[in-house]
Amino acid sequence: MKLTINPGHALTGTVSLPGDKSLSHRAALIASMAAGRSQIDNFLVSGVTSRLLEALTSLGITWRLDGTTLILDGKGLGGFSVPFGPLNCGNSASTMRFLAGALAAAGTPAVLDGSLGLRRRPMDRIIQPLNRMGVNIKGAAGYAPLSMGVSALPLKGGTLSLDVASAQVKTCLLLAGLSAGDPVTISEPGFSRDHTERMLSSMGVTIKSEKISVDGFPRYLTHLAPPTARFGLKPLNMALPGDFSSASFLIVAALITPGSNITLKDIGLNATRTGLLDVLLTMGASIQINAKPTRNGEPVGDLTIKYSNLKAVDICGEKVVRMIDEFPIFAIAAAYASGTSTVRDAAELRVKESDRIGALCSELRNIGVEVMELPDGFAINGIGEVRGGTVEPHGDHRLAMSLAVAGLASAQPVAIQNAEILRESFPEFSDVITRLGGELISDETPVLEKTTA
Ligand code: S3P
Repeated sequence: MKLTINPGHALTGTVSLPGDKSLSHRAALIASMAAGRSQIDNFLVSGVTSRLLEALTSLGITWRLDGTTLILDGKGLGGFSVPFGPLNCGNSASTMRFLAGALAAAGTPAVLDGSLGLRRRPMDRIIQPLNRMGVNIKGAAGYAPLSMGVSALPLKGGTLSLDVASAQVKTCLLLAGLSAGDPVTISEPGFSRDHTERMLSSMGVTIKSEKISVDGFPRYLTHLAPPTARFGLKPLNMALPGDFSSASFLIVAALITPGSNITLKDIGLNATRTGLLDVLLTMGASIQINAKPTRNGEPVGDLTIKYSNLKAVDICGEKVVRMIDEFPIFAIAAAYASGTSTVRDAAELRVKESDRIGALCSELRNIGVEVMELPDGFAINGIGEVRGGTVEPHGDHRLAMSLAVAGLASAQPVAIQNAEILRESFPEFSDVITRLGGELISDETPVLEKTTA
């Protein structure tokens, strides 16, 4: 599908957004490890979550979707059936890494595979610590497909030290740790998103986080007290907040499009995710935050965003992990700001759905943005405007949506080739922007309903 964005239409109005992707993944998988029926409202129905639900079916879990309400019957920690074939994780590293942890806790043998893009994402970061816990898991030279054999339970506990702050790895190890015989501590160089900790706590697990200093550098420790296996997890009942990462496309869209004034309702505002909000406020953004009651320990609120003149900003160090998925859309805000913005300490972006440094820089150039690629980030010379042009999202949903947002205020339209990839995490993206007043045109032929004579 080619998606063309025609600039010059202010965005106004109020919208709610589909459920958070990170929470949807965790909710479905962790509910399947609890004993009994869970109900998850505002579940994200999208490319990435459908792969996870299909994998759960292959593992013998029954679930149904009633609109966006997921009803799922969990079978307890050892409850998965051995699947007949490989579990297809599609493009989603979260699905693969989280499933590996859950299968390790259950002791269920399986093969995990996915798209060619997913086969390029590093899996050593879960294989090595899982091996240390006694899990029988092998990869193809550190990449998918991953083969999991039978492992002896309980697994081993202890301290597992990560080189990169990663909530995907932390979640994998915490889920495996539910079947460990001793306490598990995960040590990270930054505080990655803590949704798993909050969700497991709301399901009866004892879990604590602390920050310490080692040789003058911070380490973030997450302690899991086993043996949970003996007690089991309580089912989950939760209404998921709107996805902050999806909201960030609309936030930047309103900030750069003159005349805009929008409100986003019930958005997840977990501080381990909202680094972009802090950065945009520093840039001079008009964003009003109206906090609401938490949901299963997750902060939620409404956001009102008005068009603003943005100034350049520098991002490095611990801020990076708190906005790890938001660099493509931050780059668009930086392109419309005045002055040179820089991003450093973000080499991890090179192993996301695309090389989010290389791919982002080359596509920004295609729409006339002056950008310099750095080994661990980029520098953008913002001049308050963007030319427009044709771009390719490199199979990366966040790149597709960020470039589309750039087209809302550019001098000429922006056309996105292969834009269907955005359905991975935010299938309603075009509808929501259109409802707010934006003009997006797809070349996709509408599917005609068949009629029978
Ligand atoms: C995610 C964590 C992040 C993020 C991904 C979702 C999660 O990855 O990029 O989109 O749900 O835990 P890392 O924690 O590996 O950086």
